[in-house]
Amino acid sequence: MAESMKGMKRTHRCTEVTSTLAGQEVVVMGWVQKSRNKGGIIFVDLRDRSGLLQIIFEEADAGIENFKKAEKLRSEFVIAVRGIVEKRSGAVNKNLKTGDIEIRAKELRILSEAETPPFPIEEDSKTKEELRLKYRYLDLRRPDIQRNLMLRSQAVMVVRNFLAEEGFLEIETPMLTKSTPEGARDYLVPSRVHPGTFYALPQSPQLFKQLLMCSGYDRYFQIARCFRDEDLRADRQPEFTQIDMELSFVDVDDVIDVNERLLARLFKEILDVDVKLPIQRMTWQEAMDRYGSDKPDTRFGMELVNVSDVVKDCGFSVFKDAVAAGGTVRGINAKGQGGMSRKKIDALVRFVKDYGAKGLAYIAIAEDGSRKSSFAKFMTDEEMDALIGAMDGCPGDLLLFAADKNKVVWDCLGALRVELAGQMGLLDKKQFNFLWITEFPLLEWSEEQNRYTAMHHPFTMPMEEDLDLLDTDPGKVRAKAYDIVLNGTELGGGSVRIFQDHIQEKMFEVLGFTKEEAYDRFGFLLNAFKYGVPPHAGLAYGLDRLIMLMTGSDSIRDVIAFPKVKDASCLMTNAPDVVDDKQLEELSIQVCVDEQ
Ligand code: AMO
Ligand code: AMP
Repeated sequence: MAESMKGMKRTHRCTEVTSTLAGQEVVVMGWVQKSRNKGGIIFVDLRDRSGLLQIIFEEADAGIENFKKAEKLRSEFVIAVRGIVEKRSGAVNKNLKTGDIEIRAKELRILSEAETPPFPIEEDSKTKEELRLKYRYLDLRRPDIQRNLMLRSQAVMVVRNFLAEEGFLEIETPMLTKSTPEGARDYLVPSRVHPGTFYALPQSPQLFKQLLMCSGYDRYFQIARCFRDEDLRADRQPEFTQIDMELSFVDVDDVIDVNERLLARLFKEILDVDVKLPIQRMTWQEAMDRYGSDKPDTRFGMELVNVSDVVKDCGFSVFKDAVAAGGTVRGINAKGQGGMSRKKIDALVRFVKDYGAKGLAYIAIAEDGSRKSSFAKFMTDEEMDALIGAMDGCPGDLLLFAADKNKVVWDCLGALRVELAGQMGLLDKKQFNFLWITEFPLLEWSEEQNRYTAMHHPFTMPMEEDLDLLDTDPGKVRAKAYDIVLNGTELGGGSVRIFQDHIQEKMFEVLGFTKEEAYDRFGFLLNAFKYGVPPHAGLAYGLDRLIMLMTGSDSIRDVIAFPKVKDASCLMTNAPDVVDDKQLEELSIQVCVDEQ
């Protein structure tokens, strides 16, 4: 039966009890991690979010009643203990923060009993994630998840303090709003009062933060919840959190400067890691050419080499034809992997096919210099030597090539490079390589829509020197947009915004919006710009991704208290769920899906 804690007040968290308190009485409360009855003496490991503390029950100190209660203790019971701090009589446990002390119990209250949990509450659980997420409230008791969420809370505090010191104001923007142009599908909320109409949940506070600049707030930030209905991955959730900011009267360098100092402060205070400033900058073009990715992981080399010139006239038609068709042939050199088995190489070929590649050609150079290759039979010895020379191929190396349109070659070799680095153990989670990617293309050609779409969003400023190209060759226009990348993950992104009418109008024209369509979607912003708009720019970080990397987690689900799974459902609450007919009626909504 559950007892009350009346008359008892917690004096310390478990690991706040230290040997300096020896001889003193303390009151601790928490969950029973483990209880061992050694006959006449009972050892209990008590757990709270600070860690573990050993408690000893003996009849002589605790009295018969309390001792009898202690005999009943099971894992996850919630208890309160009054006792005396003692130096450990037995061996000191070096693995525990409180390993040199224990509490000799004088009083025990069982505040709540517990059923046996469906999985043990312990570090590095081997339990399947589905089960953990179904019982997330138990999973959240595990020390590794608790550490993640505590670090997240501290990190947000550092960010808030830093931005406040820098003159930023924290301002909330609406959740029930109109569609924002971030390129994902919207989550919609039906309006009861205006039947047949819908709010959209914000994909980001983008338009509102620009309006705040129009209203003179000059430096804004928000820890903002964003909603995007898109395919989920390890680093994507349907609702996630941004550290969102916008600044007036600034250009690219000002945004980069304040954010570099923010990152340096954050990593120093939370992880005691020194971020070397200034952070390296690389143009989008260079990133694609060298790494095949606009978010390159620079913790290792294995850079792409363009061998198109070397193979454009060679005997292997796959290479020759790709170059003739305006594509490229590029390769990577996986140093020391020349002995890779055929089976593993075949797995790499399958891997790149997921990225649209038609194949992956290889040359494996054994330690004795002999070669195995999937295409040597089509090449002369001279052609092979020239290709291997261009790739800096040495005995023991594995050379891998893709031939196709640029985009396909970049995508597949960019991904392959990271996959191989993982297999080769080159990814050190304790190393933090930051990188700014700048000068993104302003526009992307959409085959599907047969028109240009904005790569970032339609309010991103073109680079001044490329403005004329908007009329002649829009695909070549570079944007004043920047991403901050950490260890191959896009941590954040932003841009300088268009604030001049004529550029904005041109932009809509290139994107194929009529004036009416533009006003229909973004009229409130465009109208606001008519009343005096300062030059402005901003950036948003994915907070969940940031914390994932800071904690060395493999998924953002491990740093979000109640995350959703791949199909965007919550295994604990069963959301999304059907609703009452009455609710639908009030919303004038008819559902035309067969009941499942
Ligand atoms: P962007 O769309 O690049 O920019 O988003 C900024 C950052 O948010 C994170 N992010 C996500 N994290 C988890 N799950 C998702 N589904 C998800 N989608 C994005 C990424 C990304 O870098 N308004 C602009 C910013 C600006 O221009 O100021 C914006 O939202 O880490
Ligand atoms: P095939 O002549 O089709 O058997 O191809 C010979 C080798 O070239 C195989 O190793 C294929 O995986 C590889 N290959 C095929 N298409 C491409 C391509 N587009 N890029 C690189 N390698 C390719």
